Amino acid sequence: MSEERLKIVAGNWKMHKTYREGRELALDIVERLTTTQTMVILCPPFIHLKSISTIINDITHLELGAQNCHFAEQGAYTGEVSASMLRSVGCTWVILGHSERREYFGEDEALLAKKVDAALTHGLRPIFCCGEPLEVREAAQHIEWVQRQLEGALFHLEADEFARLVIAYEPIWAIGTGKTATPQQAQEMHAAIRQMVADKYGAQVAHKLSILYGGSVKPNNAKELFAQPDVDGGLIGGASLRAEDFVTIVKSF
Ligand code: PGA
Repeated sequence: MSEERLKIVAGNWKMHKTYREGRELALDIVERLTTTQTMVILCPPFIHLKSISTIINDITHLELGAQNCHFAEQGAYTGEVSASMLRSVGCTWVILGHSERREYFGEDEALLAKKVDAALTHGLRPIFCCGEPLEVREAAQHIEWVQRQLEGALFHLEADEFARLVIAYEPIWAIGTGKTATPQQAQEMHAAIRQMVADKYGAQVAHKLSILYGGSVKPNNAKELFAQPDVDGGLIGGASLRAEDFVTIVKSF
């Protein structure tokens, strides 16, 4: 059944690469990735979006995402970028709720619910991140933790709105640490998320939802993770900064 779902690999560049380096990385990825069944999304810093949108313009398997957006349409929010601005430079996706945004910028479920609404209103598809810290996993509360994140930020949506979303499960203890969740841990959570979505929106919406795993995905572990029935791809941080590694991960399905 899972083959009906969109397979996605998204590269979250975080705060890396100068303008020139960003162009070089995007061009390198384009050159190495001539064909794939997987939807590949590049999520560079804001300042790269326009130039990379030009680079990947006509390539059907490559799309552009931002790493964040503001909840307001426009206004006096110094330093912020709105969803409609992102659309206007060719973005079709936006990462929301990344654990680094939650931790360093105080983003909580109530704020994320507003950002999700803004993104959907302006035609951006959110890649909504969820995931537990180590102490929550050690206390075996990880499923309840993620359930609360989804309920607080997403479950106000109508089913047709929710159907535009992709969820990325990123256990915080696995991000940038080199400590990946085992394929079994990822599968357990992904199946639990799909069940939560089924309970809320019905089996069909749940079945169609792409759920990505993120947290130290590398060329040498992607295959095993992506082989899990409920893992529909990955959100890649560190390994998305080297074209060779990123493309190897894309080809791991
Ligand atoms: P990582 O980051 O691949 O470097 O662990 C993943 C993420 O934060 O999206």
